[in-house]
Amino acid sequence: MSDKSLIKRPIPKGSELLPVVGIGTYDTFNVGRTAPERTELKQVLVEFAALGGTVIDSSPMYGEAERVVGDLTAELKNREKYFYATKVWTSGKQAGIRQMEQSFKVMRTARMELMQIHNLLDLDTHTQTLKDWKASGKIRYMGITHYHAGAHSELEKLVKTNTYDTVQFNYSLAEREAEARLLPACLDSGVAVIVNRPFAQGNLFGKVKGKPLPAWAAEFDCTSWAQFFLKYLLGHPAVTCVIPGTRRVMHLKDNMLAGVGRLPDAALRKRMAQLLDAL
Ligand SMILES: NC(=O)c1ccc[n+]([C@@H]2O[C@H](COP(=O)([O-])OP(=O)(O)OC[C@H]3O[C@@H](n4cnc5c(N)ncnc54)[C@H](OP(=O)(O)O)[C@@H]3O)[C@@H](O)[C@H]2O)c1
Repeated sequence: MSDKSLIKRPIPKGSELLPVVGIGTYDTFNVGRTAPERTELKQVLVEFAALGGTVIDSSPMYGEAERVVGDLTAELKNREKYFYATKVWTSGKQAGIRQMEQSFKVMRTARMELMQIHNLLDLDTHTQTLKDWKASGKIRYMGITHYHAGAHSELEKLVKTNTYDTVQFNYSLAEREAEARLLPACLDSGVAVIVNRPFAQGNLFGKVKGKPLPAWAAEFDCTSWAQFFLKYLLGHPAVTCVIPGTRRVMHLKDNMLAGVGRLPDAALRKRMAQLLDAL
């Protein structure tokens, strides 16, 4: 019988293991302050932690998302269970510092596990600040992010500089450009990979609507299309963690199962891609 615990993988330049399924907050956590808007999100965070999840990804670009995470974890009194990853998304050294300080405030935390430079905006300026903050212990890891393939060659150059602990980018069965050069470069350089938009912002579900899972999905302990999409990514040796976004407890539970049991090998992954391409 397969192991039922959530798989963990190392941050190559760090000293800890990350559970392979995290959660994104773009759009899904951008809600107002009333209870009805937040009730299910709170339960999403409860279940996420109960199932062994830790990585919560946010950004000041995501409206109220950082604040909602901070408020809900304060209500739950369980901030220590999570690995907070947020971003800086502005130009100028002082503006960057102000924005990051604001993220600490609204997320109600004295430490940030990971700070990332969103869409590489004013990269050199923020890189210097993040180096200083890492040296002083204010953040544990520093990273870079982007969301479309047009930036992959730039990301590839940057991961080879040995400056960043993590890189976050788009990768899914619908967007496989990263496989050509970026993912191998991350593996070679020992940079942890955080995958954003793992369902191509939900679009993958439209492609398989009404279609049954192939019987061979059982060979890698897969019981839903969401698990199929995520296990494909986790089957790549360079991927450290995927961060699907959801506002639903039912979907969260489904997504967490992608990090449990067997993962597809290279031959199965090829078959998975062929199946999607044929739809
Ligand atoms: N750095 C960047 O530039 C960047 C850009 C984009 C995103 N991101 C990060 O990456 C995270 C993920 O990307 P994303 O949220 O844009 O897209 P995504 O994770 O590819 O897709 C999210 C969509 O999938 C649906 N979904 C989730 N689980 C499901 C399930 N089990 N069954 C059916 N539908 C399901 C969600 O709807 P429900 O809410 O109904 O479940 C939501 O509409 C973001 O939240 C953000 O943290 C970063």
